[in-house]
Amino acid sequence: MKSIREKKYFNQFYSITSDIINDSKFQTLKQQRHHGNELGRYAHCVRVAYYAYVIARKMHLDSLSTARGALLHDYYFEDWRKVEHNEHGIDRIRNMHAVAHPKRALKNAEKDYHLNKKEENMILRHMFPVTVTPPKYAESWIVSLVDKGVATCEFVHSFKMSWTQHHSSQPANV
Ligand SMILES: [Fe+2]
Ligand SMILES: [Fe+2]
Repeated sequence: MKSIREKKYFNQFYSITSDIINDSKFQTLKQQRHHGNELGRYAHCVRVAYYAYVIARKMHLDSLSTARGALLHDYYFEDWRKVEHNEHGIDRIRNMHAVAHPKRALKNAEKDYHLNKKEENMILRHMFPVTVTPPKYAESWIVSLVDKGVATCEFVHSFKMSWTQHHSSQPANV
């Protein structure tokens, strides 16, 4: 995948997000596996934020809030595959990773950054329709849709990489 740093609007995007991107806590997201990509959750969040920013900018929406809210949409630090669940019924559903992580991300982001209402909503509602309440703002819809698009590309890329690796490691058919 082409690096976000080579993209047309990267400098403008970076000028309004570099405090978050370069923060040592945000940088630890590089160690968190996410959709199988090399730089983990960090790269995913930066990609979503960049594309959401560009779309919001082209639509003359609040691109500053979009970039910052999108950057923090998956701001959680645990590997959900290793979290054990003992709950049952509705509690089990509430604590499923896909349902619970937006709330965790928002709680973490509120601790470290001052968020406006739009940024809060982008983080909390990005998993719609898995979480039932829809996004409230146009900018939140953009983040939710871009997240799904980027996640799909990352899964496909990761699948292709493992397919190629698997087949290149097969002994030649002689
Ligand atoms: Fe997420
Ligand atoms: Fe995401």
